[in-house]
Amino acid sequence: MSAPDRTTAVELDAASPLAHHRDLFLLPPDVVYLDGNSLGALPRAAAVRLGHTVTGEWGHGLISSWNSADWVNLPRRVGARIAPLIGVHPADVHVGDSTTVTLFKTLVAATRLRPDRRVLVLEPGTFPTDGYVAAGVAETLGLELRWCDPADPAAALDDDVAVLSLTHVDFRTGAMYDLAGVTAAAHDAGALMQWDLCHSTGAVPVDLTAADADIAVGCTYKYLNGGPGSPAFSWVHPRHQEAWSQPITGWFGHARPFEMERDFEPATGIARMASGTPPVLALSALDAALEVFDGVSLDVLRRVSLSLTDYFIALVDERLGPTFEVITPREHALRGSQVSLRHEAAYGVVQALIERGVVGDFRSPDVARFGFAPLYVSHVDVYDAVDNLVAVMEHEEHARPAYAIRNAVT
Ligand SMILES: Cc1ncc(COP(=O)(O)O)c(C=O)c1O
Repeated sequence: MSAPDRTTAVELDAASPLAHHRDLFLLPPDVVYLDGNSLGALPRAAAVRLGHTVTGEWGHGLISSWNSADWVNLPRRVGARIAPLIGVHPADVHVGDSTTVTLFKTLVAATRLRPDRRVLVLEPGTFPTDGYVAAGVAETLGLELRWCDPADPAAALDDDVAVLSLTHVDFRTGAMYDLAGVTAAAHDAGALMQWDLCHSTGAVPVDLTAADADIAVGCTYKYLNGGPGSPAFSWVHPRHQEAWSQPITGWFGHARPFEMERDFEPATGIARMASGTPPVLALSALDAALEVFDGVSLDVLRRVSLSLTDYFIALVDERLGPTFEVITPREHALRGSQVSLRHEAAYGVVQALIERGVVGDFRSPDVARFGFAPLYVSHVDVYDAVDNLVAVMEHEEHARPAYAIRNAVT
């Protein structure tokens, strides 16, 4: 079989409608970065903005910047930028805490909307924090946590289920649920539908309104490029907002925070998702980072993402055949924006690739993950990544003794 030709990749990039978006990011020139599904790359605008926020707004403006730079409204201003990426009204998105803390708040509030029901349903392969939080909520409120069959979540639903909470795109395999179909099944059972959008927002079109979902949460440091530890977003359908009662009733979620009243009265709308002082530096960086989506249609984003993942899978099939099992669905409708390869030495494979400047990551026990952020990953990156993967396997670089000990973050 003749070796695939790199010029095909060059031609695909030349025809890509997003080819020039890569210039909006500060990427090291000698790195193929396929880990934007874990930590997105740095948008140039975020670096500039952070400098301004630190020295100008904080350094010079000091406390007056809460008003003059409108720090106080950052959670909603940033939420409004995220809204079009998930198909919701700009006034209905809040940004503030970590995904984990946000999940706790939304799960408790959601179960309070279904007081006659005692069960939370999740799937067992969900991202661990989702399961851990649900178990904590179940224990705190005396509810039952029920694990469903990932292939058929609806089978676990009955008239005792308050909330079905799923991750739209699976962190390990990159498999994607049918957002509207599963939401409809939850509603048929009288349950609320919560989506964790960490692995879809910014890479996969999401339309929560069309799907008629109830609640969504998602992180902003992956495909939204907000930077390490940037705060998560939450969305609650307007039909639930008036009765929405999240458990961390802090002063920033009060109707009148600076009246300093003794008793809590929630703010109207999604603003009641706030608890304490917003993380201004992180929100400012995220606000600027989201500019890279200005003028980008989600359909174009999806087309480029699928072109990249299709190309990666085709090259792996052609050049590495049975060495790796592609565990990501090949069907477009079932695939997010990452491709996962199973191999018993996956950790060593990922480390050897990183040594060669190709950055993916490893998920226990045997998965090498590669994320394709369509705004800055090119087809040439894909070609070079597979070329390096072939070389790693040929020279058995993955078997180096140094890779027997895993780093703290894999
Ligand atoms: C689906 C999903 N949920 C939650 C998280 C993490 O939550 P947190 O942002 O609180 O660390 C991740 C992190 O990768 C994730 O993939």
